[in-house]
Amino acid sequence: MNRKIIPIALSAALTLALPVPMLLAHGDAVPQAVDTTGLPDLPEEMAKENPWRAASGDLLFRAVEVGAKGFNSNCARCHGLEAISGGLAPDLRFLEANDFGDEWYLDRVLHGYEQNGAVKMPPFADIFSQQAVWAIRTYIETRPDADEMAAKTDEIHSLLDKVKALESGADVTTAGAVADELDAVNDQFEALSGAPRAVTVLAQAAHILRADPARAAVAAELIAGSLRD
Ligand code: HEC
Repeated sequence: MNRKIIPIALSAALTLALPVPMLLAHGDAVPQAVDTTGLPDLPEEMAKENPWRAASGDLLFRAVEVGAKGFNSNCARCHGLEAISGGLAPDLRFLEANDFGDEWYLDRVLHGYEQNGAVKMPPFADIFSQQAVWAIRTYIETRPDADEMAAKTDEIHSLLDKVKALESGADVTTAGAVADELDAVNDQFEALSGAPRAVTVLAQAAHILRADPARAAVAAELIAGSLRD
């Protein structure tokens, strides 16, 4: 595989160019442990393939949530926010969601990458639990095509209005109907990795509404946040 080599100076320049909140949150180069509360235990031996690739419901959404946090605090400064690469390190959204992609992913994440004695990517083997490793993998491989999402901004805005309308109090049936609409639009987006599904904020919001319609404000904020990006 032929990969571009990225000078560390460029990567430092990227860190400096990030908006201030990012700098505060991610300027630290020390790898951070990931809180995996709520994820099931995995066997001690490292799986060779993502054990949560076919997950659904609570497990899928928890894995994506944990993975997003783990990614943002450990990977985003080089691989880009939401895994959208600015070109300094590979765009991980395209890493195939299959055993080959997983092997490559595991090798890099556990051992990192050094070139001519310079650490281009730190190893995470001593910091991450197996749950953290696969939660981040699940997050990465369920990223939707951001351009396709951008093309549907108007539709997403009108969905946001419907979720906001639930904030003043909604019954389970009404909230469920809005959740169905959110899921239907989510399912129009494909994961760039070829994973079984993309998980957008729309699906995450739908999951929240189904679990507890009283949390409509949280669901709305998730969608609004993605529109602000
Ligand atoms: C200090 C910058 C840096 C950090 C932090 C970092 N990476 Fe990397 N990563 C790189 C660079 C540079 C490469 C390209 C190395 C190569 O040639 O394979 C890379 C390669 C990879 C690859 C191989 C991708 C491919 O298409 O070949 C994966 C997978 C990966 N990183 C995952 C991660 C994950 C997950 C994290 C966070 C847990 C992370 N990286 C953190 C810089 C970084």
